[in-house]
Amino acid sequence: MRIVLGVGGGIAAYKVASLLRLFTEAGHDVTVIPTEASTRFIGTATWEALSGNPVSNSVFDDVPLVNHVRLGHEADLVVVAPATADLLAKAATGQAGDLLTNTLLMAHGPVLFAPAMHTEMWQHAATRANVETLRARGTAVLEPASGRLTGADSGPGRLPEPQVIFDAAMALVQGQSDYQMPLAGRTVTITAGGTREPLDPVRFLGNRSSGKQGVALAVAARNAGATVRFVAAHMEVPPPAGVEVVRVETALQLREAALEAANGSDVVIMSAAVADFRPAEISDTKIKKRDDTADPVITLVRNPDILQELVEQRNGGAGGAPQLIVGFAAETGDSQGGVLAYAEAKLQRKGCDLLVVNHVGTDKVFGQDSNSVVILSRSGAEPQEASGTKTEVSDAIISRISFELNHVSPRA
Ligand SMILES: Cc1cc2nc3c(=O)[nH]c(=O)nc-3n(C[C@H](O)[C@H](O)[C@H](O)COP(=O)(O)O)c2cc1C
Repeated sequence: MRIVLGVGGGIAAYKVASLLRLFTEAGHDVTVIPTEASTRFIGTATWEALSGNPVSNSVFDDVPLVNHVRLGHEADLVVVAPATADLLAKAATGQAGDLLTNTLLMAHGPVLFAPAMHTEMWQHAATRANVETLRARGTAVLEPASGRLTGADSGPGRLPEPQVIFDAAMALVQGQSDYQMPLAGRTVTITAGGTREPLDPVRFLGNRSSGKQGVALAVAARNAGATVRFVAAHMEVPPPAGVEVVRVETALQLREAALEAANGSDVVIMSAAVADFRPAEISDTKIKKRDDTADPVITLVRNPDILQELVEQRNGGAGGAPQLIVGFAAETGDSQGGVLAYAEAKLQRKGCDLLVVNHVGTDKVFGQDSNSVVILSRSGAEPQEASGTKTEVSDAIISRISFELNHVSPRA
């Protein structure tokens, strides 16, 4: 596929090098057209080297090739990232002062804008009107992500992650002209990994959680367009790029971080394996092995029920919709009841909206790359099974969450 990649003059231009890589590694032929302003941020040599094609931003270079007509005409897809406020305005009003804006007027295939700018610029009535004009003409304009902007400030206006732009571009080409990322504009808090409860300066009580499922969920939520707040306990894998990470160790720390991150989130996913109990006392010094005293006895006390507290504090995201809370249950059946019976009782007791149930044994789930779950819903829908790699399971969970958010009646 022939792709024209327009690059606007914003700080986020550097991230577009990764987007270009995604396109070329997928086998596409990419011509980059950087605006004059963007070359103050990233030089043309980067684009020439990564794309393998010559780069120009003037209609007067290689005039016999009539690039100002040819590039747009031949492109199967035009992507503009970062789309500056200026470029959105120029495209909406049909200006053609440089090679990129000429190409936009000549484009025969789909066009995708991935905006990035300060929140005030994005929310300004002029930009809103320009975006509406472009969308009304059938041009796709992604919602920017929320989060840290160029300075210390944060809010909507961040360039969506390269993978998000790539996925949206591919969906557009496959004819999904109404493609909307299902969690665009939503904030999702995800807890992941296993807590560690200290006994003394060197020992702790932990669990087998690797964090892989939580990471896969964060990637799926991010790729669905969400801003992800990721509360990470101990994990064997690094947190994914493009999410806000808060590191914690103990259940009490995780409780505090999760309640804070949940505030203003549209969705909270409690996938961390949180210790039910912690040692009643933490020794300041290493507990010694001594022949003259009895072996130590560890007394445990209950940790707070974070899922229950989240349900009690439940509040909505920026859109004002009620918050959707998703619990995870790692259950084993016993002589008293099966896994699903325990999970169903837990769903009712905790009052969360969805419960993702794992059947665990020492060789199942923890640390593995695949998983098999049942998603129970308080809305009364049939239990839904999902199995495969943790990525596939996460995609199923995130699409179920998107469905509940967008189609199921308000939660209490
Ligand atoms: C440090 C810096 C960062 C900027 N970041 C952005 C940005 O993220 N989004 C934006 O719309 N404009 C941003 N601007 C302003 C644009 O560079 C300016 O509007 C320019 O005229 C855009 O030209 P272009 O649309 O042809 O690339 C930034 C300017 C500077 C100096």
